[in-house]
Amino acid sequence: MTLLQAATAVRQNAYAPYSRFKVGAALRASSGAVHLGCNVENVAYPEGTCAEAGAIAAMIAAGDTAIAELVVIADSPSPVPPCGGCRQKIAEFAAPDVVVTLCTTDGKSTALTVADLLPGVFSLAHMARTSDA
Ligand code: THU
Repeated sequence: MTLLQAATAVRQNAYAPYSRFKVGAALRASSGAVHLGCNVENVAYPEGTCAEAGAIAAMIAAGDTAIAELVVIADSPSPVPPCGGCRQKIAEFAAPDVVVTLCTTDGKSTALTVADLLPGVFSLAHMARTSDA
C-alpha cells in the first residue's frame, strides 16, 4: 500500500462532526514503518487535533522519531496545506529536505519540502544563549 492509499484510508476514520472536513495523514518513518493519523475534533473546538499531529503521535508512540516522507489528503478544492502549528510539529521530526505531499481526494497534489512549508523555522539554535539569569 502506498502512503497515499494509507492516508486516503485513514481519512475515513476522521472524527470531524463540526467542520465536516476529514483529513488523513500517512508518514513513513526512517525505520520504514508507516504511521497514520486523522483529525479528531472536539465540541470544545480548540481541543481538536489535526491529522498530522495524530500521525506524529502514533510515530512517537511506536518508537520512531524521524519522518522520511509525509502525505496529507483532504476533500479540498486545492491540495490541503498543513496549519501553522502542524508545520512546526512536522519540522520537529523531519529534515528540511523531507518531502510533504499535499493531496485532494479528486487527484490533485503538490509536493513541497519541509523547508518550503516553514521558512525561518524556530529551532533549538535560537535558544543558544539561554541561561538561568
Ligand atoms: N485539519 C487537519 O487535520 N490538517 C490540516 O492540514 C488542515 C486542517 C483539520 C483540523 C480541523 O479538524 C479541520 O481540519 C478543519 O480545520
